[in-house]
This record gives sequence, C-alpha cells and structure tokens, in this order.
Amino acid sequence: MKSAFLRLAGALCAAAVYCCAAAQQPPVDVQLAGQPAAGPRADAAMPQLQNIYGRSHVSLNGRWNYIIDPYEMGYYDYRHTPFDASESGKGGFYDDRKPRDKGDWVEYNFDLSPTMKIPGDWNSQAEKLQLYEGTIWLRQSFEADPKPGKHYVLYFGAVNYEAHVYLNGKKLGAHKGGFTPFQFDVTGKLAKGHNFVVVKADNTRHQDEIPTVNTDWWNYGGITRDVLLAELPATYIADYKVQLAKGNLKRIEGYVQLAGAQPSQAVTVSIPEAGIKTTVHTDASGRAALSIPVAKMAYWTPEHPKLYQVELAGGGDQVQDRIGFRTIETRGQDILLNGKSIFLRGIALHDENPLIPGRLRGEGDMRMMLQWARELNCNYVRLAHYPHSEEMLRLADEMGILVWAEVPVYWTISWNNPDTFKNANAQLTDLMVRDKNRASVIVWSIGNETPVSAPRNVFMGKLAATAHALDDTRLVAAALEVHRVGNEVEVADPLADQLDLASFNEYAGWYWASNKEMLNYHFNIKYNKPVVITEFGADALAGYHADADTRWSEEYQDALYKNQFKMLAAIPGLRGMTPWILVDFRSPRRQHPYFQDFWNRKGLISDDGKKKQAFFTLKRYYDEMQKKYQ
Ligand code: GCU
Repeated sequence: MKSAFLRLAGALCAAAVYCCAAAQQPPVDVQLAGQPAAGPRADAAMPQLQNIYGRSHVSLNGRWNYIIDPYEMGYYDYRHTPFDASESGKGGFYDDRKPRDKGDWVEYNFDLSPTMKIPGDWNSQAEKLQLYEGTIWLRQSFEADPKPGKHYVLYFGAVNYEAHVYLNGKKLGAHKGGFTPFQFDVTGKLAKGHNFVVVKADNTRHQDEIPTVNTDWWNYGGITRDVLLAELPATYIADYKVQLAKGNLKRIEGYVQLAGAQPSQAVTVSIPEAGIKTTVHTDASGRAALSIPVAKMAYWTPEHPKLYQVELAGGGDQVQDRIGFRTIETRGQDILLNGKSIFLRGIALHDENPLIPGRLRGEGDMRMMLQWARELNCNYVRLAHYPHSEEMLRLADEMGILVWAEVPVYWTISWNNPDTFKNANAQLTDLMVRDKNRASVIVWSIGNETPVSAPRNVFMGKLAATAHALDDTRLVAAALEVHRVGNEVEVADPLADQLDLASFNEYAGWYWASNKEMLNYHFNIKYNKPVVITEFGADALAGYHADADTRWSEEYQDALYKNQFKMLAAIPGLRGMTPWILVDFRSPRRQHPYFQDFWNRKGLISDDGKKKQAFFTLKRYYDEMQKKYQ
C-alpha cells in the first residue's frame, strides 16, 4: 500500500507530503556490499535502493520542458568555467531563474520552452533531435510537503549518457552511464510547496567512456527511464538478496541491509506460500546474513515461472517483492537449471521499439518484444548490449524467459585508462545490485567482441573478478571474438579461462564468406565448457525476395539460418544460441540507401512488425531442440 505523499503541480496524482522544516535525521551513509567506493558518481549519489517500485513513491514522469544547448551555455560561463563551480553559483540553466525586472538579462526560459515525454529519448520526439548528440536541459516542477523524520530519494532509472542533476537550483550531483539507475538522497532538500528538478543530459560519445565512440546502435539521449520520488521511514530496508544458495535447492542465502536512524534491528523475512518466516538481527552497520532452509518449493523454470511473495519487515519499514527461486550452474559442457541440463533457445534484442521509434517505454512494448520471442519458442533472450530496464527483467521473471544481461563494454574500449575501468566496474556493479533477485537472470556478461590484447585481458579479467565476487549464484560470460585461419575457426580467447561459458559471435555466411562456402567452417573450441553462440545472422529487407544466393533477400537470410544449424550441429558442446537479432534496429552505421537507411536489417522481424521467412525456420529448429531436451 503506497502512502500518497506528493502532489504534482498541474499533473495527476497523489496526496500531499506533510512535513515541518525541522532538521531531518541525515541517513546513515551505508556503503552496501559490492558497491564500489569510487566510480563515476557524484558527491550526493547514494547506494542503490533495492526494489524502488516496492517503496512508497510517486512518479515525476510526464511532460518536461526542455532546452537544447549544444554549446553548454547553461553550464559554462563565457570563460568556460562551470557556473556550479563559481562563487555566485548563479547563471546556470539549473536555477530556472526568471527575470527579476524588465532590465534583467536572462537568455533562457523553461516555461516558454517546448516539452517532451519523460521517460523518453529525445531523438524520437523531435525531427531535429533524431541525430542530436550533445546537451539538453530538462525541467519538471512539482509540489511537495515532506514529513518530518522521513527520508526522500530522487531516483532515475537511466539517463544517457552523463547527467548533472539539480533540485531547486542546487546541485545534487552527476552520474555517468546510460543504462543503470542512480539516486540522490533529497531528505531536507525538498521545499514545502513548489519544487523543480533540472537535469543536464549529455549523450556526447567519448573514447574513454563506456561504451566508447563506436557502437552499432542508435545513441538515444536523455531521460530514457522512470523518474521517481520515494519516501522512506527514518530507518529503512536499503538492500536485500533473497536467492537460493549456489547449487543448493534446499537453502536460501543472502542478506538484508538496513540504513537510516537505527540500522540495528530485528528483521523478519517471510515467504508465506513456502511456509518460511524467519527473524534476523542486523548489526551496527545494518547488515544481517540470511541462511534459510527450504522444505518444499516450486522452483522457477521457463515452463513454470513460479514467483513467491517475499516480505521483509524491520525498523518500521516493510517491503514486498516477487521472487523466483532456481539454481543455475555448469557441469562440463552442460548448463544445469535446477540440476537439469537445458538448451538455451534464445534470441538477441536491443532496448528499442521498432514500431514506435525510440527506446522501449514501458510494460506494453516490453511485453510485445518478449511475446515475439515466445512465438519463436524461446526460453532465453540476450538483452544486448547494455542493461535493459528493471521492468523488462521483472517481465522476464513473470513470463519465464531466461536472460543474458550485459554491460556496454563493447569493441575498442580505452583499456589503459583507470577511470574507464572504474566506470565499467560501476556499471557492472549497479546492474548486478539492481537485478540480483531476478530469477530470469542467469548470465552476467562483461562485454562484447573486445579485441584480445594484454591491457584488454587485464581490464576484462578484473571485471570478471568483480562479477564472480558479487554473485556466485549465476554464470559470468562475455561475447568473445574468434580467430579464423582459413576455414578453421579457433575459440581460444584467454579471457574464457575466467568465464563459465565458451560464448562467442560468429558470422559465417554474412561477414565471413557466403551461404555457398559457410559449411566448410570447422570450430576448434579449446574449452571444456558449454558452448553458446551469442551472435550469428544476416541482413534481409523484409519483402525483398530473390534466390538464396542473393544477399539482402529473405531467402538468403533463411538459407543462412538453415546452414548455421547444420554447421553448428558439429559442435558437441553446443548448449544454446542467441541469433542476431529479434527485430531490425536503428544504427548510424548502416548507410545503404535502399536496403538499410540507418537500419540494421538482421532482424527476424521487420521495423513494421512483419515476420521474415527465417523467423519460422528458427521456430521449427527450436521446436526440435525442445523435444531433444525434454
Ligand atoms: C557485431 C555486434 C553487434 C552488431 C552486429 C552486426 O557482432 O556485436 O552489435 O550489431 O555484429 O554487425 O550486425
């Protein structure tokens, strides 16, 4: 039950927040396990709150005013000194200043500026912004009347790429990373009555960032996921992990972490439908380990994705979650789900709606994408190449679809730059902290097609170490590159020694040779690990028909899929695949004026929702694989 506590100016929703200006108890600054001390965060960012949607919150989504600012006039003065670092602190667009009198000089005005829908990338909301890369300022106004003794958290689901956030003209902090959530503790910073939040969003690409300048997806900028304001009691449940222990169907292990005024409390964890109710006592730092025997439980599987109501209560706070319980591990060349060998019947997808241009917006279009995967008879998806939204993972939990989750450590990263590593490590950590209770997530992927070199091996090796240290209950992998010598395809990437899967991309028949020659390829895989093909595919313009040797035709793509199945059948350890890709997607790298027009056409479904011939070929193959693994 959400306590309504906020009234939005001129918009829907909720009752008022009640507070007095009395000093709020500053929250105990709790450094949660696995959250790096440093990282590309700002000063005021706080550790990620687990399950924000399960807290008392209101949404600040809606129409935000925006100002396009390609020269960052709202951030730097004419000497290129940041306004928010200057003594006056005045002058930036973040103070939403109105002219004091007719002689006053102000060269911007949010009230008179256009609006855009938030959450929503800006590229798909205005013609002139389709290819825009730079800064846009966004402002939302709202009324509040915060209560004494409560904590208030301003949460952003994602802002691509760099965000500077201000509340009522005061800087809260900054964040880098276009696909992971971040939040600020705004306790004591909300005004009684009128408030406004301003975000400087900048999607400019840079070599030393994560991702770097070179990607094969559209650089959608802006506030692309929810903006929420949450209210928490004086002492609150900040984080928890409630999952089956590694390889143990009879024990739940994890932790609960409290923060706030009195973090040392008795906390009860209940799973009523499983007959579980246990009480633990958090220590002075607010933390308590969980180790709970499991008598009888319906384990989560794609066929029966059972989710349990899990309730945590302590210190005057309570939070509920829906959690599935399963184990995932490898044994030799097998992948075991709840101890049973499975085949990952997958497909890859981007976080993009082909029918309504832009990032996926909410449950509706996410369900459409996963429903298309279901129609392929998939039990698995690769959410490429970056963290998708929390809603997408909760939907995968509900629909019974296993997930490969990934961070955008993609291609030619600045391997020697320590700040680049910190950024990658923070994005990986934030992804894992957010989704650690999602049964659907079975793989943490630390990157895609990163060219082998000594500095890359060190960088990626440290990322693999982070992933293993943070979560020993899931697999750690990457989409590796292979080494071709003639028809010999060698999978011998040294990074694989630290990974659980021999997973790699291969483009036999498209980038390598053609349909005619691809059956000559032989895979030489140096690892006794399950083999998962993370990408193969071909472009096809839906409706373009020709013979099977004519590239860009549906027939070529279809013949390639059939050849792939024949070629891959020769790999004894093959245990899954995610062909590239479910749906055509936008990319600035795809210039062919007739076949592409800024679209990558490897989708099995076109940009207007039509299924190509290869869609049905893959479906038939998965029907056979399902029978084989029954
Ligand atoms: C690469 C890459 C994808 C890209 C694909 C393609 O393997 O991982 O992001 O879209 O190839 O070229 O279509």
